[in-house]
Amino acid sequence: MSEKSIVLVGFMGSGKSLTSKKLAETLGWDMVSTDELIVKREGRAIADIFKDSGESYFRKIEKDIVFEVSQQSGIIVDCGGGVVLDSENMANLKKNGTIFYLSASPEYIYQNIKDQTHRPLLRVDDPQAKIAELLGARQSYYARADVIIDANKPIDQIAEEILRILENE
Ligand code: S3P
Repeated sequence: MSEKSIVLVGFMGSGKSLTSKKLAETLGWDMVSTDELIVKREGRAIADIFKDSGESYFRKIEKDIVFEVSQQSGIIVDCGGGVVLDSENMANLKKNGTIFYLSASPEYIYQNIKDQTHRPLLRVDDPQAKIAELLGARQSYYARADVIIDANKPIDQIAEEILRILENE
């Protein structure tokens, strides 16, 4: 298997973090989460960054972090759901990595996130409608990944499929 990084993109709640952990365990590779690195750098929660500094500030820090993690290879990169919106982020991530889009349905995503409250973009009256709206608006960005994986299934199966694809490369 090549030593390119494995980069996971996809909507909030599509299983990127759990799949990253599973892949890191199985391969014995390091994993990084862009959200976690942002929180560490800023010393505050993502919801507070959005609230106090705005989304564009968050996207700027996110872009710096994506650039830094893109310099490494042989790691698993768990990307925040909006990383795909910046074409330079995608170009940087492709240099040393293979980008997998975990594609989940709005219904599946809603089931996964409905009891969670930490995501600022989904703190709205009707999160289900917001998921469908954002997912629709982002579809063409997610489609720029190298590989699209049907993520409406258990984490172990998603991870197995990614490994199978990489082994056959
Ligand atoms: C976002 C997704 C979040 C986080 C931020 C914005 C988005 O990451 O980066 O709340 O724009 O989709 P997860 O996909 O890990 O929840």
